[in-house]
Amino acid sequence: MIRVLFNKKGGVGKSSLAVNLAAISASKGHNTLLIDLDTQCNSTHYLNIPDTKRDDTIAGLFEQTITFHLRRKPAHEFAVDTGYENLSMIPGSPHLADIENELDSRHKIYKLRDALQEATEQYSRIYIDTPPALNFYSLSALIAANSVLIPIDCDDFAIQGLFNLQQHIREIQEDHNPDLTVEGIIANQYLSTAKLPNQIIQSLINEGHPVIPTYVAQSVKMRESHQVRKPLLHMAPKHKISQSLMAIYEYLEQ
Ligand SMILES: Nc1ncnc2c1ncn2[C@@H]1O[C@H](COP(=O)(O)OP(=O)(O)OP(=O)(O)O)[C@@H](O)[C@H]1O
Ligand SMILES: [Mg+2]
Repeated sequence: MIRVLFNKKGGVGKSSLAVNLAAISASKGHNTLLIDLDTQCNSTHYLNIPDTKRDDTIAGLFEQTITFHLRRKPAHEFAVDTGYENLSMIPGSPHLADIENELDSRHKIYKLRDALQEATEQYSRIYIDTPPALNFYSLSALIAANSVLIPIDCDDFAIQGLFNLQQHIREIQEDHNPDLTVEGIIANQYLSTAKLPNQIIQSLINEGHPVIPTYVAQSVKMRESHQVRKPLLHMAPKHKISQSLMAIYEYLEQ
């Protein structure tokens, strides 16, 4: 199963959810791989992965498709240990930006899909963190994945962006990846006491959008977890926000 966290909107929780869902998946005994496709490398930092040589990051995986190599390394050889049992990661790299145009002009859009198809032999769960844009890398991820999870912050612009996003996803399904499903919309940074988020979520549900029934509350614990570079499951397993992430995980796996 390959799940991609995607929303063109920035700061909605893609990296937070990718890291935490991958950590939960690993803790359940699934051999899990997290891939950071964002030049900001937030999920790589979140998991406290030390700086890696460019060739050993996700940039290296893509770069070998446009440069001469005696031997093409399979995806699992780019994966590093995270220190957590069953959890490996292909680290992100700012160098993705340097090679994006060339990859695009040389039509390498299916290379991630091919690499990950091989990697599913080693990893039964793959989570992909994407940049806040529909660019070469997020498109590669949506082509490679079975499932897209769309985090939203519950503000008004979230809905406008969502319609546009779903149109893009429909096109990707038609043109490249008929197996892609929108597995769920994840309401993040939810404030149960505020009126607007509830109205927004309710209207999405009424319109038939697949909103996951557990919402992730806005909580300082999430920021703390980034700061100490530890997934919530390991930092504060009993906290309400950890419990809701686990509930989302179970909902997806049921
Ligand atoms: N539920 C939450 N409660 C409080 N803070 C949160 C929550 N979810 C995410 N944040 C904070 O919001 C910020 C953005 O989160 P995150 O980096 O996961 O979003 P993103 O969608 O990956 O952003 P980008 O588009 O820049 O990649 C981070 O500082 C994170 O700590
Ligand atoms: Mg991010």
